[in-house]
Amino acid sequence: MRASTVKKAPTTTPARPTESIFDALRESHERQRALCRQLLRSKPHTADRLSIFTALRIELAAHAAAEERHLYVPILMDDRGLSPARHALHEHHQMDELVEDLQVTDHSGASWMATAKQLSHKVHHHLREEEKKFFQSSGKILDDALKMRLAKRYRREHARMVRSLQKA
Ligand SMILES: [Fe+2]
Ligand SMILES: [Fe+2]
Repeated sequence: MRASTVKKAPTTTPARPTESIFDALRESHERQRALCRQLLRSKPHTADRLSIFTALRIELAAHAAAEERHLYVPILMDDRGLSPARHALHEHHQMDELVEDLQVTDHSGASWMATAKQLSHKVHHHLREEEKKFFQSSGKILDDALKMRLAKRYRREHARMVRSLQKA
C-alpha cells in the first residue's frame, strides 16, 4: 500500500477516522476559552500578555475562516440554515472588530483590558450558542458521511490558516 501524500499540519491534531465536524470545532472552542481566561489574568507590561493575545488572535481567525468555509457555507445552502448562519457570521465579524481594536491600542491600559473583557464575553457567548443551538440544527441538515468529510476539510484549513497567520 502506498503512503498517503497528504502532509499533516504540525499545528493541529489529525482527524480521527470517525470524527465529526462538531468534535473538531469543539477542540478549538476549548482552546479559545482557555486563551481568553489566560488573557484576562495576564499582567500589563509583560511579554506573556502579548504572546497570549497573539495566540488567541490567530486561533480565533483560523477557526472562524475554517468554520465559515466548511460548516457555514454548506449550511447556507439549506433554507433552514440561512438565519442561524447569518447570525453566527455577524458575531464572527463583531469579534474581528474587537480583535482589531485590541491590536491598535496600548496593551497595558485599563481601556485595553475593558475591550479584552468584552471580547472574552463575546467569544464565550458565541461558542455557547454554537454548541447549544447551531450544532443541533446543523446536525439535522448534514448527513453523517458529510459531517466526517467536513471534519477533515476543516482541520486542513485551520492548520493552513494558522501557518499563514503565524508568518504574517
Ligand atoms: Fe466555532
Ligand atoms: Fe463561530
